[in-house]
Amino acid sequence: MTQNALRMDKPVDTSLLDSGVQGIIGKGIERIDGPLKVAGKATYSAEYEFPNLAYGFLVRAPFAAGTITSIDAEGAKALPGVIDVVVDLKTFIRNAQQGGETEAPTQGVKDVAYFGEPVAIVVAESFEVARDAAQLVSIRHEPTEGVFTFDDHVDDAIKPPPGSMPPYHEQGNLDRAMAEAAFTVDDVWRTPSQNSAAMEPHASIALWDEDGLTLYGSLQMPSSDKQQLAKSLGERQSKVRIVARYIGGGFGSKLGISPDTVATAIAAKAVGRPVKTVMTRQQVFDATVRRSNTQQRFRLAADAEGRLTGIGHETLCSNLPGEGYFEPAGQATQFLYGGENRIIRHDLVELNRTLSGSMRAPGEAVGLLALENAMDELAEKIGIDPVELRRRNDPSRDPQKDVPFSTRSLTRCLDAGAEAFGWDQRNQTPGAKRDGDWLIGQGMASTTRTNMLQPSEAQVSIGPDGRALVETDMTDIGTGTYTILAQIAGEMLGLPVERVEVHLGDTKSPPGAGSGGSWGAGSSGSSVYLAAQALREKLAKAMDVDADDLTLKDGHAIAGNRRVPIGDLVGEGLTATGSIEPGKQEKETTQASYGAHFCEVKVHAVTGEVRVTRWHSTFEAGRILNQQTARSQCIGGIVFGIGTALTEELVHDDRDGRIVNHDLAEYHVPAHADIPPMDIAFLDERDPHANPLHAKGIGELGIGGAGAAVLNAIYNATGVRVRDYPATLDKLL
Ligand code: MOS
Repeated sequence: MTQNALRMDKPVDTSLLDSGVQGIIGKGIERIDGPLKVAGKATYSAEYEFPNLAYGFLVRAPFAAGTITSIDAEGAKALPGVIDVVVDLKTFIRNAQQGGETEAPTQGVKDVAYFGEPVAIVVAESFEVARDAAQLVSIRHEPTEGVFTFDDHVDDAIKPPPGSMPPYHEQGNLDRAMAEAAFTVDDVWRTPSQNSAAMEPHASIALWDEDGLTLYGSLQMPSSDKQQLAKSLGERQSKVRIVARYIGGGFGSKLGISPDTVATAIAAKAVGRPVKTVMTRQQVFDATVRRSNTQQRFRLAADAEGRLTGIGHETLCSNLPGEGYFEPAGQATQFLYGGENRIIRHDLVELNRTLSGSMRAPGEAVGLLALENAMDELAEKIGIDPVELRRRNDPSRDPQKDVPFSTRSLTRCLDAGAEAFGWDQRNQTPGAKRDGDWLIGQGMASTTRTNMLQPSEAQVSIGPDGRALVETDMTDIGTGTYTILAQIAGEMLGLPVERVEVHLGDTKSPPGAGSGGSWGAGSSGSSVYLAAQALREKLAKAMDVDADDLTLKDGHAIAGNRRVPIGDLVGEGLTATGSIEPGKQEKETTQASYGAHFCEVKVHAVTGEVRVTRWHSTFEAGRILNQQTARSQCIGGIVFGIGTALTEELVHDDRDGRIVNHDLAEYHVPAHADIPPMDIAFLDERDPHANPLHAKGIGELGIGGAGAAVLNAIYNATGVRVRDYPATLDKLL
């Protein structure tokens, strides 16, 4: 079998997708898994049926901090239909794991760290009996002192270990820049904890046989999830297989394994039967992952012309004791605008609240709220248009790393977006535009998302029937991965999309990038591209021509006056693997996608109700692989941003850190009626530094800045600056 491996040490100047003879790339074709989903034929992890399947239900600590001294399960075991209550205080995992980390900590669950932590699992003949029995398990503990309130402990904040970025950066002298500036902003923004609130709850089915463990799980990154699970269980990796074919959203909460994954595997082994555990909605909220609350101080210093001379972004966030992850709120602040004097800092308050980790656009999603609100305040102080302020501060090189941008299109997005929205018609005076009881305002914000590449491998085969098969353990979390991989393989191999089959989400396939960090399409798409490139070489050989002289189109190989069905060229079948990994390009260029949001809101003068009435965003993310799935990703991100701006907020009880509003009735995300028609535009661009597709990440681009645009519009409507997210009615009256 041929292998085609690429390390991104140099730009890839020409992409085989450029010729586009098939016309498939970029086309807004509907998701190929769509009909399966609407017909109920796409099997999600909890939906597999097995003979003798038993049901697990997690038993959770009804306290927030303490050491378990005993667990009495006799009452639960006596309930008819209960098979066993499995307790393994050493091996169960305390909380969900970070995505990408291959090691799972082995802290166990004897020492409970947050309210509702799973500590045991009931296995029964039905879900209902298991749930019932879980109430009968009694847990004794020796209480320890917990830390539950953020505000009282900000002085105890610690410097976290490096994550996706170093926690501290300092250059120049920000204090002096602030003292000498013609205009300054110095304010504090606060954002609450949030939950990913994916539609499909976390779920696991575990089966053991002579080959080891198969775990059907709702997980975003099977390759690293497999390593985490093997490590937790003390099994060899070759003994663990993960299957995650369809996933009903993840948004970061399924990057790593969660307590149900390990508990279900242990339970299935203990009872000698397959076991299925589906978390309840409350368990998902309490015991998986939250986005940390943040407190962000932003300082901006500008000269008389509105050019930034200094930026300070200091973030406090929270996590469980011993967890190093911090919300990298300063991620975009590193490169979005110029200014030579800079401080970016992240400090961590250790709290006994459920794990905080990655949630859609970790860092940018909340960091850009503060940055883009601060820029709005600065524009007003200087007396220039907020779009113009951003244009003036669009740097030509990365202001921190002093490397070139791979491509940079912020100003183009700002200009195109302003034009499409009709920004020049905006009323400049806050609170001056009214329609009856409604105050009308318009606001804007920039967005950006760092582009990343992850090691990824795929296998592509062509059979004598002229059909192609793509295999990788990459996932589709509702984003359209199945479709774009079929498009890439189809375009490269001259096959219509209907003749490409895509198998995802099974660790028996080559290890893919997984869905996270907006790297999925670029990374896994490149691995498919490279495998298909190798197959093109083989087809050219079979035709006895150079690959450059071969055209693959409509199922045929065409060279000179010969036109041969592709299936006739492959013998019993051809197979190749493609793999990509990051290289020097990652360090030598700063790569990111960009965009600009423009919106209109109306705010009720009497009740403070906010309605978002109009929206336009222009984005640039390199080559757009599918106009429709890309647009849907951007809309999804913006809707998240609108929720952040107006309603989303996890409320913790100060007495024990428990989440009070742990369901979708009380944790408010926008519904259809809350969202206006979305006008989305993409600028055409190629980024040869990113990958051979010349495409960049898009899944997390829409959320960045979207909430800030709403609050900037609210200010324009009302003259009220809200710096404490979300902008609920009470904050506007
Ligand atoms: Mo994303 S928060 O890396 O799923």
